[in-house]
Amino acid sequence: MSVEKSFYGKMPCGSEVYSYCITNTSGASAQIITKGATLDKLIVPDRNGVLADVLVGFDDLDGHVNRTDYQGVVVGQYANRIADGRFTVNGIEYNVTKNEKGITCLHGGGEYSNAVWDAEILSENSVKFIYFSQDLNEGFPGNVDVSVTYTFGDDNALHLSYSARTDKDTVINLTNHAYFNLAGAGSILGTQLRLNAQYYTPIDENSIPLGTLAPVAGTPFDFTQSKEIGRDINADDEQLKNGSGYDHNFCITDWDGSLRCAAVAFEPESGRVLQVLTTLPGVQLYTGNFLKGVIGKGGKPMNYRTGFCLETQYYPNTPNIPSFPSCLLKGNETYHSETVFCFSVK
Ligand code: GLA
Repeated sequence: MSVEKSFYGKMPCGSEVYSYCITNTSGASAQIITKGATLDKLIVPDRNGVLADVLVGFDDLDGHVNRTDYQGVVVGQYANRIADGRFTVNGIEYNVTKNEKGITCLHGGGEYSNAVWDAEILSENSVKFIYFSQDLNEGFPGNVDVSVTYTFGDDNALHLSYSARTDKDTVINLTNHAYFNLAGAGSILGTQLRLNAQYYTPIDENSIPLGTLAPVAGTPFDFTQSKEIGRDINADDEQLKNGSGYDHNFCITDWDGSLRCAAVAFEPESGRVLQVLTTLPGVQLYTGNFLKGVIGKGGKPMNYRTGFCLETQYYPNTPNIPSFPSCLLKGNETYHSETVFCFSVK
């Protein structure tokens, strides 16, 4: 196992960006760059041992800076949406950046994902990325010290361990926005997916949760038994219309803060299996509905529905919905969450 640090490029402001590539003893690897603590490449074997990159993304920093749709980034301070860019903590109203249609805050206004993080190699297979978010950046309360440690093992499992500490009560929701394509390219509609969720959070036409939990049973949202992502994606269903496909939070069954299976994806041609585990209560299934052919890796377009995301998270708009599991981080307390992307074949 080894970690190799390389110069990756310069941000428009001149800051240098570095990549850290963790390679295991069988030659599989995970590469992370300091811009956005972005998971840039994830090269894992198929059932014949052939290695391929299973992440949709970019070959260079220019793509990550100028053409990104959050490919691989760490998202914070609040992943996904906050209605009206507004919430209250301890009776104080905070107004955060409304970067989506001028009405919602999406992915924390992009702060964490656009920043260049510091990095520290912890061991032969582990790198820690560190970022400091000042009080009221994008409007979020608290001076927040955040870190994400990526560890890639000989078992082809990539562990993401998130920590944060604030000096003032705040809201926090950190995720990784990797777009997976287990075949390495092409449509993701034939990938089979199982989600450990009997409920999901339906949304309005602005993708804001209605505040209710809806049973998946008998709807296109039922992934309790493995099915092709594309099987029901074009069904005549109001929720699918609101999301332009799947772009919904699923509530992980029996969530209790321990590491639980959220999802298992299987791509039949390559035989690759991705299992996602998390300590968080939700997972956003997003089926690349807004990918529009922007040029990505290998100079090839990232077309509609050629990548899917499984973003482990607190439910969207939790700061405004008291019945959802709380995303409050109190001053001088430490936030911790774990997500694992585990690869195998069958
Ligand atoms: C998340 C959101 C989507 C979309 C993508 C980025 O998955 O839920 O609606 O904004 O990020 O394009």
